[in-house]
Amino acid sequence: HWPSVVAIVASYLVGSLSFAVIVSKAMGMADPRSYGSGNPGATNVLRSGNKVAALATLLLDAIKGWLPVFLILRFGGAWGMDMGIAALAGLAAFLGHLYPVFFGFQGGKGVATAAGVLFGLNWLLGLATGGTWLIVALFLRYSSLASLAAALFAPAYYLLGGGIAWKLDATAFVAMVGMSMLLAWRHRENIKRLVAGTESKLGSKKKKE
Ligand code: G3P
Repeated sequence: HWPSVVAIVASYLVGSLSFAVIVSKAMGMADPRSYGSGNPGATNVLRSGNKVAALATLLLDAIKGWLPVFLILRFGGAWGMDMGIAALAGLAAFLGHLYPVFFGFQGGKGVATAAGVLFGLNWLLGLATGGTWLIVALFLRYSSLASLAAALFAPAYYLLGGGIAWKLDATAFVAMVGMSMLLAWRHRENIKRLVAGTESKLGSKKKKE
């Protein structure tokens, strides 16, 4: 089914735009892969001390996950695309962020992009998951721990909301579980640091990890 294939490949390419690197370069800042956790993501850009750059990274990385899902749900019906294809395109954008073809396949951890995908699938799902991130981040001050908690809860929220706020789709659920598992895998160094008590808290600057 070629329209779906085209949509999924295009989503991967959009996901491959590593906005932490692009925004930092555009703003004349150091490459985020050279300091802090070395991760090209909003959390690490924040360690530079530039909140505007971090916010721009967060929004752009989220939009690149949201956009393909939104476009497919809104206009894909005419080409026979459904919720499952939208979720697979979201997963492709997420994979692009993790393994970007334009950046030697060395990407980020996928938190903002996954959040964008969830918002695209259903704004309530995005809000519940984003709220979970925010609560953990506010109380415990670890971005990574907040991301891991949100990833754990997202598929559960999807199942909980199914039948009440949205129609459950098996492919979307599998894509979501896949995203959560990959997200956790990409946080393996963070998990080690959390266990060792050496993870850097939100608000602390460029410290070498
Ligand atoms: O959003 C990524 C976050 O969960 C961890 O980022 O830079 O602390 O490894 P970082």
